[in-house]
Amino acid sequence: MEFANKLVLNSGFVFDYTNMLGEGRIKTEDLQEMETAMQKARDAVNEMRASGTAYKHLSKDGTPEPVYFTRLPEIKNGNPNTPVSLQKLKEFGDYLRTNVDAVVFLGVGGSYLGNKVLFDIGAGPSWNSMGEKRRNGYPRIYFSGNNLDAGQCEEIMNELRYWSVHAWPKKKRFKVMLVPISKSGSTLETLASFIYFYEACNKSVMFDTEVTAVTDRNPEAGSPLFALAQKHGWRCFDIKNGIGGRFSVLTDPGLVTAAAIGMNVEELLKGAGDMEEACRMDDVYANPALMNAALKYIASERYGCHIEVFMGYGERLGSLGQWYVQLLAESLGKKHNRNGETVYYGRTPVPAVGTTDMHAQTQLHQDGIRNKVVQFLQIKNMPGDIVLGMPFEEPAFKKYNGLNMSDALAMALDSNAEALNGDRRFNARYVLPEMNAYHLGELFYFLMLSVAYEGELANVDAFDQPGVEAYKKIMKAKFAEHSN
Ligand code: PA5
Repeated sequence: MEFANKLVLNSGFVFDYTNMLGEGRIKTEDLQEMETAMQKARDAVNEMRASGTAYKHLSKDGTPEPVYFTRLPEIKNGNPNTPVSLQKLKEFGDYLRTNVDAVVFLGVGGSYLGNKVLFDIGAGPSWNSMGEKRRNGYPRIYFSGNNLDAGQCEEIMNELRYWSVHAWPKKKRFKVMLVPISKSGSTLETLASFIYFYEACNKSVMFDTEVTAVTDRNPEAGSPLFALAQKHGWRCFDIKNGIGGRFSVLTDPGLVTAAAIGMNVEELLKGAGDMEEACRMDDVYANPALMNAALKYIASERYGCHIEVFMGYGERLGSLGQWYVQLLAESLGKKHNRNGETVYYGRTPVPAVGTTDMHAQTQLHQDGIRNKVVQFLQIKNMPGDIVLGMPFEEPAFKKYNGLNMSDALAMALDSNAEALNGDRRFNARYVLPEMNAYHLGELFYFLMLSVAYEGELANVDAFDQPGVEAYKKIMKAKFAEHSN
């Protein structure tokens, strides 16, 4: 049987795995031998879609817990995203746009990483220095709570003070919206920074401070943040049962950031929905997420590729790599399989940015130990349009005349892939036609689904994270000791 070396979707999304195949790399027989396992993984994910449960998945307290991430793209009553929840997000965005000067999102892990990607791609690095008009009235955006870094908190607070002084002649008070995002409502990093900003903002006459809490609103979950929100009458968004942190970017905890910058949430979900559709086919070799999972699984298990470098080309893609780190590490890094056997499964994710890391990591990718897959991400039509002129007459500078910077970026990626290929190094490429909400939704969902399929292939629970409990227990005890 012959396999295609790339899958191209109607949307223009491409998964090109040519450089995963061939001599010294994955062979036709490898994929043929995986066919039954891939069919089982397909059926298990279909079952997950239908029943909202994953085989043997339990919550951290050992009780059965649903898995609803496959329901994210469909806006429907009973699903995580409903017509009412989307309307509420829209109203939140409109409220911020007309009433709020700055938003501080406070969260860590799955309650932060996806939000940062949405901001980086939908807003970009100069958002906060743009005037209100260029932001289309949407507020300045800050992220904290992703660390216990006093300096970071103070810097943001100083910046808020700076803008509040700036705004003083126009308005009476600078309106700040604090948005703590925490499913448990008790995460140290999130709460520490929330408390800091709440106190600091409320102390100053320059600020008018509001809070919107994003947390598990189920009273049985016992989120202290929810109790506080109820007591103070704060606006509240829900983190629903069955949606784990790393699978939550396409619902309220992530979408609040999309709403705050005026990103098109429907387009984001449409992209995810079209990817879901494309991954529902029976032919396992034509399902992009399942092929991605199978190729990575084979590369890991049969060819020793225990590291995956996620290398997006373009500055704005750095945080996407960080988001993927959590998705891959927490989902697949498991000591035990679902039968309780010790397997020590997982692939170490390494984020990289092209071309920057070609000058830092590529030496290792090209010549180092042969234990890596380099996963490239390319945006076909990069934003920005720079063609160089010729301000210098010296011969050494002449060749830059007429250089289109986006073409040079693509050339750099092609060169990196070709060089790796020349030494039969495993690499693959995702191509998105553009960096917009639709394609971002497609990619988020593709990666989440890929990880779910790989969990099935490796027979590990992709939805729990028992390993993080070890440090959490120790940290909790130290914290309790410290507070006494
Ligand atoms: O994926 C996860 O479950 C974690 O990364 C959590 O998102 C992170 O620990 C933050 O937890 P919480 O949302 O409860 O504050």
